[in-house]
Amino acid sequence: MQLSGKTALVSGGTDGIGAQIIRQLRAKGVTVITSGRNAERIAATRSDGFEVIEADLSTLAGVQALIAGLNARPIDILVNNAGAGADHDFREEPPDLAVADAAIFLNLNAPIHLITRLMPTLRARPEALIVNVTSGLAIAPRAGGPVYCATKAGLRSYTQALRAQLAGTAITVLEALPPVVETRMTAARTSKKMPAPECARQIVAAMERGAAEANVGLVKVLKAAHSLSPALARRIMLRF
Ligand SMILES: NC(=O)c1ccc[n+]([C@@H]2O[C@H](COP(=O)([O-])OP(=O)(O)OC[C@H]3O[C@@H](n4cnc5c(N)ncnc54)[C@H](OP(=O)(O)O)[C@@H]3O)[C@@H](O)[C@H]2O)c1
Repeated sequence: MQLSGKTALVSGGTDGIGAQIIRQLRAKGVTVITSGRNAERIAATRSDGFEVIEADLSTLAGVQALIAGLNARPIDILVNNAGAGADHDFREEPPDLAVADAAIFLNLNAPIHLITRLMPTLRARPEALIVNVTSGLAIAPRAGGPVYCATKAGLRSYTQALRAQLAGTAITVLEALPPVVETRMTAARTSKKMPAPECARQIVAAMERGAAEANVGLVKVLKAAHSLSPALARRIMLRF
């Protein structure tokens, strides 16, 4: 897609990978509208010149607030980036179902709601793009994060079916699968992490190419291993 001149809604652009995506899109001539929750991070993003709509996307009210904040403006690009992990490990503390429910809504329900609500405006554009940010963990889960991995596998599956439905239309559907990236989400992890600007660069490049998937960094290796032996890839990732 020719990005210059387009308008994009990027959820969760106040931090992490999303904060890099919005800056790289703006540098390519895209008008960016983003969203977040945390007041300080919203203020910082606004002071950098971005429009930020405050919305907690783990709730239906938050999705509605984001749609209302758009004020029926036409959108060419929707990037469903906002997401969060959820501790859910029966070998440790008893899982908190409220945390699980919030993560399921944020990571899976909210993208589906936003796509559904914005489909009329996307369909009306000469060309449009939907980007769903999943994860390498959508391909094979790790044992410690069953809820998070299930939401990402669910969004991957939704994305693949949506792409088939929209084949032959002017709407391209891109799934972005980051590896472990250095953000607030992975602060507690000691494994090697990709810098967020590089992850965003690969996602934005895939948007420009019109690719179906952005398999970022080590996710390319995981995909190759999974295509050779899904059982082996699963065994390795479960220990991760
Ligand atoms: N980091 C990784 O290693 C990694 C790997 C694979 C996939 N991903 C995916 O990449 C995406 C971005 O992750 P990240 O690492 O950049 O995360 P991050 O640094 O924690 O940033 C998350 C962004 O989403 C927003 N957000 C979080 N919870 C929200 C909620 N309930 N309602 C609305 N906005 C919310 C945050 O806003 P506030 O700060 O205001 O809450 C922030 O702008 C997520 O979908 C994540 O699952 C990340």
